[in-house]
Amino acid sequence: MSQVDEIKARVDIVDLIGESVALRKRGRTFTALCPFHTERTPSFVVDPQRQSWRCFGACAEGGDVFSWVMRQQQIDFREALRVLAERAGVALEAPTRAQSEREERRRRLNSLNDAAAIFYQRRLAESPDAAVARNYVDERGIDEEIQQAFSLGYAGDEPDALLTYLTARGHPPDELVAAGLAVETEHGAIDRFHSRLLFPIRDARGRAVGFGGRTLSNDNPKYLNTPQTEIFDKSRLLYGLDRARNAIREKDRIVIVEGYMDVIAAHQHGQLNAVASMGTSLTEAQVRLIKPLTRNVVLALDADAAGAAATLRGIEVGREVMGHESLPVPDPSGLVRLQDTLAADIRIAALPEGRDPDALIRVDPDLWTDILEKAPTFLDYRFTAAVGARDLENARARAALVEELAPLVTAIAEPVVRDEYLQRLARLARLEMNALRQRLRQRRTSAARNATDVHPPAAAEPAPSRDRQTEFLLQLLVVRPELVPDVAPEARRWIGGGLAQELLDTLARPEADPSTPLQDELAALRARARALPPFSDEEAEQAAHQTVQRLRARRLREQMRPQTEAIASHERTHAAADLAELAARGTTASPSDPDVAAAVQAVLENMETGRELHLGATHKNHAELQKPARANLKETE
Ligand code: UTP
Ligand code: MN
Repeated sequence: MSQVDEIKARVDIVDLIGESVALRKRGRTFTALCPFHTERTPSFVVDPQRQSWRCFGACAEGGDVFSWVMRQQQIDFREALRVLAERAGVALEAPTRAQSEREERRRRLNSLNDAAAIFYQRRLAESPDAAVARNYVDERGIDEEIQQAFSLGYAGDEPDALLTYLTARGHPPDELVAAGLAVETEHGAIDRFHSRLLFPIRDARGRAVGFGGRTLSNDNPKYLNTPQTEIFDKSRLLYGLDRARNAIREKDRIVIVEGYMDVIAAHQHGQLNAVASMGTSLTEAQVRLIKPLTRNVVLALDADAAGAAATLRGIEVGREVMGHESLPVPDPSGLVRLQDTLAADIRIAALPEGRDPDALIRVDPDLWTDILEKAPTFLDYRFTAAVGARDLENARARAALVEELAPLVTAIAEPVVRDEYLQRLARLARLEMNALRQRLRQRRTSAARNATDVHPPAAAEPAPSRDRQTEFLLQLLVVRPELVPDVAPEARRWIGGGLAQELLDTLARPEADPSTPLQDELAALRARARALPPFSDEEAEQAAHQTVQRLRARRLREQMRPQTEAIASHERTHAAADLAELAARGTTASPSDPDVAAAVQAVLENMETGRELHLGATHKNHAELQKPARANLKETE
């Protein structure tokens, strides 16, 4: 038995969850108000038989004892394993050699960064040559307490102060290079940071992972950051999250600003739920950090022209600043999907021209709070911005409006919400709903034609190009996992695409495996599944089986296509003489599946009789000829 299974066998999910949630028995399950979102009717269900939990409400999440502990304690799988192993009295196997080596490397990188942070912090406080930095910090109004809290530091102008300090303490130079604290030159390694004010960047648990270093003399770049390392990936970190965690949970809201300075100003003014995306637009990895804490996200963005116009400034800055590091930058419709995927409420707080949060908070804290309170949803913001810039008396301007907003509206997963915005767009564009829908369809087809290299891949894909039946089946199974064991084996044969099969396999695997690369896919699927109509148990089961049968029929038809096409073309050319040979080839063309073989046989048989009846058949009555074969297949639909 694996460790995971052994733990599962020993920990009862009802006992475990019952310790922190008031469970009520209802039939063979237990229910409660969902502990992860606010609700008035209980949609949280614990199933002792399946040893699973699930929120059927806004969270649409669930899993086993492991995912419960991960979600509730906001820890990763490894930690949850430790917690549960202890509870169950199961001794954990030693990690593999590769695992512990990696762990050890990461630990050393962390402690190097921690040591560097302390070194730089002391320089800022004590060193005579740091006077310029101390003045700068004062001028910017950063008080002593906040400097300490964020461990601001200073790198002087010597080439290797940090190297000297850390190598003397037994850290070899190449380790410093690996940590991004030093760089290799022809004459050996030197420090990365010189004459810069340093902002240590910490992971969610407060360990230093890298630095942002601000120039004090208008050098370029304005901020020099730690390069990507084994523990530092800017697109997976949020500056200040370690300090903002509790406040985010308490206020049930996170405020995301762009810069280090903005976070610091916010915290100094008591707004402790502020973090920075560090100049990049929000990535999915970042949102995953937020997700366990809150679903209410306010993006506080500079209002310069870009903010009010077509794109979010964060995206632009992200591209410029990050240059070579290609980030999963959501385009605006990507953000809409992200919002759907995460069931998040994303709002945009647009700041007055020329002010960033730092300036605003310091000069006019009330205005800042007011802007946050009144922040419109992302879509409303985009609508207002798009309309504001245009003279809608002008037909061309209205067409441009549709161009701009249509991709956002069509990206909305919830049909009800989508319709609402469609109606709004129709009104603004002075189009009938049907005319607008028509227009959108045209846009989509031409967009598909031009799809190559227009956009970077969006962070959260919409329902991928998979066919509707496959998508429907996956959605159904993700919300009705109890159907999976019954349906999956047959479905696997017929479902479209490798990814769909992998998703199906993941669903069929009983334990929560948070390392599966499909987590995001599953989350997206779950989000889309929220648009499913309510099903009774029976209806759901029936729907699942029917869908599998439809998929099967379609696959068979696809596999037969070469044969049917060959038949058709022979018919057209009146090559009746070849038909016999074709028939012979058709049956030996080794359709891999007995069902296919049978279906092909049926077509061929019809063809034989067809030849009698329709010798010299035209293109048109070829369709007639095929009918019996189709009817044959229909039985399976
Ligand atoms: P800003 O230019 O708005 O910086 O970039 P800021 O934090 O407000 O700093 P001040 O007020 O000008 O001193 C926003 C964020 O983008 C990232 C940093 O994380 C910065 O805080 N950035 C910006 C870089 O990483 N490199 C750059 O060269 C510029
Ligand atoms: Mn600023």
